[in-house]
This record gives sequence, C-alpha cells and structure tokens, in this order.
Amino acid sequence: MSHDTRSGNAPTTQLLLAEIDRAFDASTARLSEFLRIPSVSTDPAFDGETRRCADWLVGQLRELGFVAEAAKTIGHPMVVAHHAGVGPDATKRPRILYYGHYDVQPADPLELWASPPFEPTVVDGPRGKRIVARGAVDDKGQVMGIVEALRAWHTLAGGPPCPVTLMIEGEEESGSRSLEPFLHGAKDRLAADVCVVSDTGMWDIKTPAITTRLRGLVYSEVTIHGPTRDLHSGMYGGAVPNPINVLARVVADLHDAERKVMIPGFYDGVSDVPAETLAQWDSLGFSDAEFLGDIGLTEGFGERGRTTIERTWSRPTCDVNGIFGGYTGKGAKTVIAAHATAKISFRLVSKQDPEKIAAAFEAFVLARLPAGCRAEFERHGTNPAIEVSETSRFLGAADRGLRAVFAKSPLLIGSGGSIPAVGSIGRILGMDSLLVGFGLDDDCVHSPNEKFELECYRNAIGSHAAMLSEFAALSR
Ligand code: BES
Ligand code: ZN
Repeated sequence: MSHDTRSGNAPTTQLLLAEIDRAFDASTARLSEFLRIPSVSTDPAFDGETRRCADWLVGQLRELGFVAEAAKTIGHPMVVAHHAGVGPDATKRPRILYYGHYDVQPADPLELWASPPFEPTVVDGPRGKRIVARGAVDDKGQVMGIVEALRAWHTLAGGPPCPVTLMIEGEEESGSRSLEPFLHGAKDRLAADVCVVSDTGMWDIKTPAITTRLRGLVYSEVTIHGPTRDLHSGMYGGAVPNPINVLARVVADLHDAERKVMIPGFYDGVSDVPAETLAQWDSLGFSDAEFLGDIGLTEGFGERGRTTIERTWSRPTCDVNGIFGGYTGKGAKTVIAAHATAKISFRLVSKQDPEKIAAAFEAFVLARLPAGCRAEFERHGTNPAIEVSETSRFLGAADRGLRAVFAKSPLLIGSGGSIPAVGSIGRILGMDSLLVGFGLDDDCVHSPNEKFELECYRNAIGSHAAMLSEFAALSR
C-alpha cells in the first residue's frame, strides 16, 4: 500500500530507504540502460546518441509524473523537468532545482578498458560490486541517484514533497557553451530556493561530503606555425625555427623550479586560505600514501611548501593536457614539422580573472616566438573558481539527510575540479548551490575503466530521498 502525502502522510526516511533497497536491482538496470547510450558531447560523431540520451532521460522523468522535455539550445538539448510536489502544503515548501549532466567524456584510449566503455558491466571489486562504464560516476550514476530517489518518492507518496525542477545538461564535459544563453531565457521556469548539484565526491566510501569550493578553468589551445611545409631536418635543421622546439620552450618556461607559474599577473586575485580552514583541512586526516599509492606514486609533486590538499583545493595550476606535431609514427623520420600544437589548461582559485589569465598566457607565448613563427589560439571555455556557503539552512538539512543514511555528518571539503554551471547558476539565477556528490577518488573519472561502487549508488539514492524530506521540512 503506498503512503500518500496528499493525505498528509509523508513516508518516513526508514520507509524510503526500505523501498530503495527493494527496488535497487531495477535501479541498477536503469542506470545500465542510461550508460549504454554513448553521449559524448565533444565529438559531433555522437550527436545523434547525445540527443537519444536526452530523450531517454525525459522518458524516465515523465514516468515519475514530471512535465519534462529535451529543450532546444544552441548546442545539445537541455533536459528540463518540473513537478509541483504533492500534498496541500507543497507550495509552502522550498523549491529545489537539481543540476547534473548526461553527457560524458570521450572513452579513448579504448584499448585500456577491461570491458567496452558503453557496455556497462557489474564486476566484483574490493569493496563489493561496482558498475564499470564511461559516465558511471561522472555523471550518469549521480544523476540516477536523484532520479531514483524521486522514483521512491513517486512510489510511496505519488511525487516529491516539494516543488522540484531538474536541469540536466548535455555539454558539461565540453565547456557548457549553451548553458548561459539557456539560463537567461529560462529564469522563470528554473526559479527555486536552492540548487542541488550531484557531480562531486565523498570523503571515503563510508563518509559523505559537501563540497564548498571548486576551482575555475581556462583552457587554451595554441598552435605554433613555422615553415610553410614539413622540411628535411638535414637540409634545413639549424637554419630555421622548429615549431616543436619553440613550443617546448614555451611549455618549459611556464613553471619555475618551485613549481610557481611564471606568467606575469597569474597570481593576481589569489588569496590565502583562512587559518581556520587550513586547520579544518589538517583535521581531515588526508592520506598522501593512499591518494598517491592508488596511481602508482609515492611522492607528491607541486608548489613548494604546500600540502596535497592545498595544492588541489586552493592553489592555481597550469597543465599541458595534450601536445602533438611532427612525426609520431613508428621508427624515425628526419623532419622539421610546419606546426606544433598544445592544449593547455589552468585551474583557477579565489578571484583570479579567467579572461585576464587567457590573455596573459597568449602574451606569454607571443613573447617567446622567434622571427618566422606565428601563434594561433583557440579558447575552449573559461570559468572562475567558486566558493559556496558553509552555513546555509539547506546545508543543515542536507547534513540531517546524510546522517540518516551514513550515521555520520558530511565533511566539508574542497575539490580541484570545475563545474562551470555552479557559477552560472549563481550569477544568472541568483541561487546558491549545494554540492553533494557520491564519487570516490579511485573511480577513474575521465580515465579508462570509470566505475561507480554500487554501495555509493545505493547511498546516493537514499541520501537524495532523505535530503528531500529534510528540505521539505524547511519553510519556503
Ligand atoms: N564531475 C566533474 C568535476 C569534478 C571532478 C568534481 C573531480 C569533483 C572532483 C565534472 O564533470 C568535470 O569533469 N568538469 C570538467 C569541467 C570542464 C570540462 C569545463 C573539469 O573539471 O575538467
Ligand atoms: Zn567530468
């Protein structure tokens, strides 16, 4: 018999969690269906599949009584769904906007996957069963954590206890190009009291976390052009500029011996982390040995005098993400290439200005070009760092919901990653975000063999269901 809030009888968290356990195999089967659709947003070859993925999600949400559509944007569709909430009091309760993304990173290199990336496979791991597929945790598993929590509410109460809107985008992994134009045109539909984002990590498998800071990102692609064609390196070598050598010099100059970034003005706007925050981070008991051991390293590497946590949560960085040019086939070919390209990204913190950083990087490259070379730049999207409130009433409610599932409070953490939407939602919709995620450090996000522990999936569903009860208990 289902409990119905229309008769004023909201299900207890205990009942919700029992329903989630009962339906868990079906929830996992639906996650598998979602993962089977290769929604790689950055590659136009997958545009049809990306569209199909949005439509699939719309179908799921309609089943749960949502008014849902795959809304048109200048890029991939935005899944938007709304439910007014059940019960006579729903309108008095806070409106919740959920954000996540249905697109995924490219799966290559394919040969490093133990099973095909778009054929989700449940396998045994050291911490129980896990589902392996591209997007398992980033972000399809986490989006399904929300959807399946709403399903439990649908089964037990006929719908969520408060007004709920979902905005699930299809371009997060490729720079969220359509997001801001979309937000400007959809302010009314998306109006809410808080935005809940599930695209981050936990502290460990038994300890939930709320992320309160994310780094920003500047991503720039630079191509150095030299001679008009590839040349014999014996005939011309030593007498002409070699674009690969020039690019290598630029890359080498980016850091000094203490791993400081050498671009003039790069640290403008970077502030020190308050002493009490540093003390809280110290108290977390972060293990370098575990973090590094998982990736086959023993020693950290980065800015001198900083801990690993400071380096990833609070310091800006510069990394080359790809570099190519010249002959990369088998054997040797004596050639001077006409072009060389690098994809270079910067993670930003505090008040660093993405536009200024992008421009300063370009000037840094131009200053190092010998006569006869020119540089071409392509910017792949920029977004500033963000910090969210550590004391809001929604955070308090989330704490209570998470405690019901994990029997302990979430830790407040930072993250080195970026979610451009959080900043855009704050600026354009005027809304704070609450970042509650269920990934683990060893989930292989963006890498081969990405996975989501089924324990994390189950707890994600339970937590979203329980947090919704707590949000509904707050007044609007
Ligand atoms: N889920 C990640 C962000 C993330 C990563 C949060 C690790 C916490 C820990 C998100 O999907 C992502 O990968 N974002 C990109 C953004 C970029 C493509 C604009 C990132 O951080 O590289
Ligand atoms: Zn990602």
